[in-house]
Amino acid sequence: MVGAGGREHALASKINQSPIVDKVYAIPGNDAMVNIAEVHSEIAESDHQAILHFAQHNAIDWVIIGPEQPLIDGLADLLRNANIKVFGPGQDAAQIEGSKLFAKQLMDKYRIPTAEYKEVSSRNEALQYVETCDLPIVIKKDGLAAGKGVIIAFTREDALEGVKKIYQEEKGKVVFESYLEGEEFSLMTFVNGDYAVPFDCIAQDHKRAFDNDQGPNTGGMGAYCPVPHIDASVLEQTNKEIAQPIAKAMAQEGHDFFGLLYIGAILTKDGPKVIEFNARFGDPEAQVLLTRLESDLMQLIIDLENCQPIHFNWKDEAVVGVMLASKGYPGSYEKGHEISGFNLDSHYYVSGLKKEGQCFVNSGGRVILAIGEGPTVEKAQANAYEHARQIKSDNLFYRNDIGNKAITK
Ligand code: AMP
Ligand code: GLY
Repeated sequence: MVGAGGREHALASKINQSPIVDKVYAIPGNDAMVNIAEVHSEIAESDHQAILHFAQHNAIDWVIIGPEQPLIDGLADLLRNANIKVFGPGQDAAQIEGSKLFAKQLMDKYRIPTAEYKEVSSRNEALQYVETCDLPIVIKKDGLAAGKGVIIAFTREDALEGVKKIYQEEKGKVVFESYLEGEEFSLMTFVNGDYAVPFDCIAQDHKRAFDNDQGPNTGGMGAYCPVPHIDASVLEQTNKEIAQPIAKAMAQEGHDFFGLLYIGAILTKDGPKVIEFNARFGDPEAQVLLTRLESDLMQLIIDLENCQPIHFNWKDEAVVGVMLASKGYPGSYEKGHEISGFNLDSHYYVSGLKKEGQCFVNSGGRVILAIGEGPTVEKAQANAYEHARQIKSDNLFYRNDIGNKAITK
């Protein structure tokens, strides 16, 4: 397993439960994974040669790549060329996440529902465009931004400000999108070429930093599943109009995708539309989905490899995850504050903690996800907040409304 965050904590933990897996190694992993994997923090996630060497030296059967950066940088290709099995797309197919324009052009060509867009290549062109464009307008940098490169402008002044903020230099590509309204949801889809199998349980992320979807966008401040008020017909429609066509489009264009395609969608009055694709599991969606998943993840990956039917078994319980983040995130924040009150055996997935002596201290923006399970989202939410409150620190904050959309409707 490659990666160091909460998503990888959940992946390593789930893979470790598989009866067909002997041993899990985590590169670089984090200090919270030591009970479930052999952690190799001395190898950097970006050191592809060292990862290849490690995999060969330890006769690794499968490499699961958690985060987007190594996928976009071609780690899967390097390993596959050495005949090592990899769950995660190669560099070419990972462009679906790495370049907003790549994704937009593909959706355009294959008529996959998404927001209308306009591409510009310079600051000047962008400033001109926002003089007359419809409002609200969504402004996105072309390239990876960890969920933080999007500006939604409701006024012309904000749009001008937004362009100036996004364009630190004169050149560079930016995508403008029409603003879509509706409820967002995340659909994880296994993809092997044109064979696509969406999870039959969707999750909902909470991207804004503060309660009631206020504040800046983040990587994700909490998630829950299932989403009871988005019914099975929406999932069916998303499969038919988005998941199947995008897998076919990728295959037809020669972009060979093997791994997990994350469909970030919004349920508009005209049906589900794509907000973004990612070439890997969502974080923190993975943590809640993998907690609810009963099936053997490793076996599902092998079934996908062989294009066999994939059946998901889920617990009856709902799962809610509340992210505790360093004060200041997604802006700048202090590191090195002591975090205690949790144990590593259950209820928590760690993103940004490291061990200093006998203590854990925060080492990242998103720090730890408190998980709660229960017969309803409401009960799972109560349990998640109970676990969140057990964590002691003077430097963390969390949202108080994770899962509310499923409870108040
Ligand atoms: P992205 O990085 O593309 O996932 O965008 C981050 C967040 O910005 C999304 O989760 C949405 O909440 C919001 N967003 C992005 N694009 C749009 C759009 N076209 N209309 C409305 N909201 C959007
Ligand atoms: N939680 C959103 C993402 O992983 O991109």
